[in-house]
Amino acid sequence: MRVAVFSTKPYDREFLTAANAAAGHDLIFLEPRLTAQTARLAEGSDAVCAFVNDDLCAEVLDQLAGAGVRVAALRSAGFNNVDVAAANKLGLTVVRVPEYSPHAVAEHTVGLMLALNRKIHRAHNRVREHNFALTGLLGFDLHGRTVGIVGTGRIGICVAQIMAGFGCRVLASDPYPNDAAVAAGVEYVPLERLLAESHIVTLHCPLTPDTWHLIDAERIPLLHEGAMLINTGRGALVDTRAVIDGLKSGRIGYLGLDVYEEESDLFFEDRSERVLGDDDFARLTTFPNVLITGHQAFFTEDGLRNIAATTIGSLTAIDQAGPEAVPTPARVC
Ligand code: NAI
Repeated sequence: MRVAVFSTKPYDREFLTAANAAAGHDLIFLEPRLTAQTARLAEGSDAVCAFVNDDLCAEVLDQLAGAGVRVAALRSAGFNNVDVAAANKLGLTVVRVPEYSPHAVAEHTVGLMLALNRKIHRAHNRVREHNFALTGLLGFDLHGRTVGIVGTGRIGICVAQIMAGFGCRVLASDPYPNDAAVAAGVEYVPLERLLAESHIVTLHCPLTPDTWHLIDAERIPLLHEGAMLINTGRGALVDTRAVIDGLKSGRIGYLGLDVYEEESDLFFEDRSERVLGDDDFARLTTFPNVLITGHQAFFTEDGLRNIAATTIGSLTAIDQAGPEAVPTPARVC
């Protein structure tokens, strides 16, 4: 298959090329993001390969179908950036990588918790300036604290298991409770109770119309005073402005983000020479108790190797045996 690979970074090229060695697809590596302006770069390709901030809205899908594209292969688990109904209507097959390394994301999530709690990022800067004072670096024991996990799918379960290992009490909310989570000692409770009782709340549900702004101005007051909020799911699970107000009032005592509502115009690029135009993001970076990473939770060697292998495997299967050769949940439509 001829595949137009959008949003290509050097690491995508490296891992996809290695995974494609035996399969022999014709991979066309493109740096631009997939948008209505760049979709025509896929002209003559059988498939596009896209990442989290590529835009597969109805207009783009329509252009892709018109250009002869039959398949969209996402190098991600989430598919909130795809208009699935439009893809279905156009007869486009959409595949994703439902599981590449839940451990990568779970471990980064816990990394944010530990760094925020013990202020490791701030301590690092102090020590570099030979400031060995401890004032302001006070943390708390995770052991015995309550952690609330919203969404106990592949990643949420890993986080639950790690936090149970720290000796935390683990609460969870999920419309589909999971036996493996219960076996790990998780107690399922309604979201409101989870928010009220958890010292740390961490989000691992997909972004859907139901979960958009799940943490908003109405739910933030339900949080435990000074709670830690972690979002490594998708940016729009939280209402950024409401979270800023929650930080200002102290209701949110710590905020760890790997994703941001408006990240598509920021993340994955070096913007250090430019003026930051996003005032909400700029405000977030002024808080001493906020730690942000630029959507890197997935970014481990193991994760990239698995993403590349699954993506190439799906393209090969479709090429040889048709879309049905990729089973759900890897085949979105
Ligand atoms: P999954 O599909 O295995 O699990 C999602 C869970 O959320 C399911 O158990 C589902 O029942 C639950 N859920 C759905 N609606 C809910 C709601 N309203 N409240 C509570 N739970 C709800 O997905 P997985 O693999 O665990 O990934 C979760 C999300 O993490 C992805 O959708 C993606 O957005 C994000 N992600 C972020 C990455 C990063 O690099 N920061 C990398 C990979 C995924």
